[in-house]
Amino acid sequence: MDLTTDYLGLKLANPLVPSASPLSKDIDSVRRLEDAGAAAIVMYSLFEEEVRAEDQFMDAYLYNQDIGHSEADSYRPVSVDYQTRTDEYLAHIFSLKRAVDIPVVASLNGVTTGGWIEHALELQEAGADALELNVYHVAADITQSGQDIEQMYLDVLTALRSQVRIPLVMKLSPYFSSVANMVTILEDSGADGVSLFNRFYQPSIDIETRAVSPELNLSTSQESLLAMRWIAILSGKVNITLAATGGVHTADDVIRMVMAGADVTHMCSALLINGPGYLGKVLAEVSGWLEENEYESIAQLKGCTSQQHALDPVAYERSNYMQVLNSYKP
Ligand SMILES: Cc1cc2nc3c(=O)[nH]c(=O)nc-3n(C[C@H](O)[C@H](O)[C@H](O)COP(=O)(O)O)c2cc1C
Repeated sequence: MDLTTDYLGLKLANPLVPSASPLSKDIDSVRRLEDAGAAAIVMYSLFEEEVRAEDQFMDAYLYNQDIGHSEADSYRPVSVDYQTRTDEYLAHIFSLKRAVDIPVVASLNGVTTGGWIEHALELQEAGADALELNVYHVAADITQSGQDIEQMYLDVLTALRSQVRIPLVMKLSPYFSSVANMVTILEDSGADGVSLFNRFYQPSIDIETRAVSPELNLSTSQESLLAMRWIAILSGKVNITLAATGGVHTADDVIRMVMAGADVTHMCSALLINGPGYLGKVLAEVSGWLEENEYESIAQLKGCTSQQHALDPVAYERSNYMQVLNSYKP
């Protein structure tokens, strides 16, 4: 069975790629994922806040030392061995590249352009095979327009594109007025792929204390339908990689996503719940299903039920909305 697929110009053995998660912090877990059949790995993110904080710390330290500022006396001397989060991240890419043979995708998480993005070049030098950019932006400023937000994505992409030669994949939120149009704009601006979709963690309110507290709930298979629809709509209309993230738990979820047109399917929650070895079970089931259904390759399956190829293309749009609602029997 030929399970190979193309991801950002890299030829992968199959479409199963663990997405950014704490599993990539541990080399042994990544080895277990590779042993189970993971075709590549996306690392946990290096956050803009972390990079900025340490850059500011170093600037303040060096500046105040330099001018002999009295406050400098209260600073602890920075040891020559001082390791920033960026240093740690770079060292981890380097170690992962030595530990496994699969492609390692580094991940940056931030919303602005500026100094922190210059570190992208270091990620490339450390051996990252590609770079995912997660613009986790909550549009809470009511004066900011949709166009401003789209421009922010483009600015970060353009700044990164000018830094690195490795492939770039943008992890997007589903909250654009026109997701599909945004993907085409990103393609035109130099993205090699999109990862659909970023999952926003919704804060809750503790009704006793009135504290606003973040809630981290893992996904279920049901959530995969959001990405599946948009991948089906985009498949065949753009030439960049379509990576599906969110709610991929079972072999059926993977098969559905590939039928819609996904080049790769990311997994996170399912692996956190079931452990790295679970990926092997899903992979074997995908392969078994293809065989039973007389497919010879993943390529043959890819996009067969995209909007362009579906028997009922309008089912991906508004047209069957009314029927769906009316089909519910209370
Ligand atoms: C504990 C945890 C940590 C995560 N860390 C990151 C991260 O560092 N960067 C990132 O882009 N996404 C991160 N994600 C998001 C996942 O990569 C993934 O996109 C999301 O969980 C949806 O996929 P799933 O339904 O398979 O879990 C994290 C998710 C979880 C649950």
